[in-house]
Amino acid sequence: MRPQTTEDPLRTAGARPALCGRGLTKRYGEQYALAGVDIEIEAGEALAIVGPSGSGKTTLLHVLAGILRADSGEIELAGQRIDRLNETRRAELRRTEFGFVFQSGMLVAELSAEENVALPLLLGGQARRSALATAREWLGKLGLAGKESRRPGELSGGEAQRAAIARSLAHQPKVIFADEPTGALDTRTGRDTMDALLGAAAETGAAVVIVTHDRELADSVPRRVAIRDGRIDTGVSAA
Ligand SMILES: Nc1ncnc2c1ncn2[C@@H]1O[C@H](COP(=O)(O)OP(=O)(O)O)[C@@H](O)[C@H]1O
Ligand SMILES: [Mg+2]
Repeated sequence: MRPQTTEDPLRTAGARPALCGRGLTKRYGEQYALAGVDIEIEAGEALAIVGPSGSGKTTLLHVLAGILRADSGEIELAGQRIDRLNETRRAELRRTEFGFVFQSGMLVAELSAEENVALPLLLGGQARRSALATAREWLGKLGLAGKESRRPGELSGGEAQRAAIARSLAHQPKVIFADEPTGALDTRTGRDTMDALLGAAAETGAAVVIVTHDRELADSVPRRVAIRDGRIDTGVSAA
């Protein structure tokens, strides 16, 4: 067994970020969506990426998560370079190491809430019975006990987002990426959903990266990084 002392450099908080991007650029035609971004995400931390519409937030999230390939720059996950992986390996990484919450759920309309949450587990090879049991457990933690067999259309917007949060966490990813996760919700429901996301991520020890243009929501997250015109805006991110 590894000794769990504070001297162990790999276990010292901050010694090795969960996810690290360096010099990331991404261009669409002549325009840079990312113009050289450096960002470090510590294991288990919650971070909001804020900035106006079109500033590059979604592009940064997609590049960090291996959905998009950057034109240049490096990405490390727990010290391993992941920016040069082929599409098959990136897809595997997205399924095993990352969780995703999008603006409007992206739940499969034909499946029940518990089947939606179980889906990533089934894709990862878990047996149906245990995948569904895990799914029900997560739905319960997110306040959806009794609604496991409802389809997404039979859930409210906030409930559907909590089901999406359960789905993003059930395989215990290292990092959750949430792109405007409350964008389709009213203010009150949005705040509750954000609390549910932060609470559930903290429980598993997953880091969570939340993209939002809503400054007030961002203020509920412990750390904020501002982005403007594809660059980190240091004037604001110090807040
Ligand atoms: N697929 C694409 N093709 C062309 N331009 C794009 C594409 N995706 C994003 N962009 C451009 O890149 C910039 C950053 O976009 P995005 O990352 O979506 O910003 P945000 O999420 O902050 O609103 C914008 O100017 C946008 O128009
Ligand atoms: Mg966006």
